[in-house]
Amino acid sequence: MARITAGVATSHVPAIGAALDLGKTRQDYWAPVFRGYERSKRWIAQNMPDVVFLIYNDHASAFSLDIIPTFALGCAAEFAPADEGWGPRPVPTVEGEPELAWHIAESVIQSDFDLTIINRMDVDHGLTVPLSLLFGQPLAWPCRVIPFAVNVVQYPPPSGNRCYQLGKAIRAAIESFDADLNVQIWGTGGMSHQLHGPRAGHINEAFDRRFLALLVTNPQALARISHTDYIREAGSEGIELVMWLIMRGALDEHVNEIYRFYHVPASSTAVGHIILENAERR
Ligand code: DHB
Ligand code: FE
Repeated sequence: MARITAGVATSHVPAIGAALDLGKTRQDYWAPVFRGYERSKRWIAQNMPDVVFLIYNDHASAFSLDIIPTFALGCAAEFAPADEGWGPRPVPTVEGEPELAWHIAESVIQSDFDLTIINRMDVDHGLTVPLSLLFGQPLAWPCRVIPFAVNVVQYPPPSGNRCYQLGKAIRAAIESFDADLNVQIWGTGGMSHQLHGPRAGHINEAFDRRFLALLVTNPQALARISHTDYIREAGSEGIELVMWLIMRGALDEHVNEIYRFYHVPASSTAVGHIILENAERR
């Protein structure tokens, strides 16, 4: 059976991708950010998954205000890097895992979570920057990736609790897939940031550090945070953190924290990153 071995959460700031693509990782501004992922790169090289189920949000690249799926599951065989205005990032095409993705579609939709099935989609910085942070700059990504896009751009986004419960359904789906696959689940976005309006640049380190701690020990408490509290505390784009709750819902209640990193700022954003391994033996 396929099994979920670990969860990874990380911010997905587009400027991080640009810094990497333009060879700026050693500059004073960027070096501390990339240093924060060195340990993670070693960890994943030793714990290489077959498949990453990667939860992210599309930033009006594949979708627009014409069509806004709340939860969109990528079932295609491949996903090209999106052109976000400066040409596509110079990163490999993402190889999907259609058989597992369709199994997840069937299982999760029949478990009462209505997903949008996506057969063609370009993937933007929300997905490619986390891959770059963990895998660096390979000629091909070292594992297959199932993209899962969540609407946190156009009100109303899904609730944190809905996301947390969805994570449990995704876990049940993956663990009922009859193939010997090591699957990791990644949640991206966050932490506190606001990109526009009078509070542009808003960062709340106390909120972020509390979120990281509770993600490990008491995710149920995080699942009760309302949209307005995310906006008030973590800024308008802080709502991206609900995607971390899908990841956490797909893990054991008890997890081993492998690594945690927090850094302010990268662009307008507080960068947060955590690696959790399932702790319960089955
Ligand atoms: C920034 C952060 C994001 O999460 C994003 O999607 C776009 C921009 C930023 O900090 O610049
Ligand atoms: Fe974002």
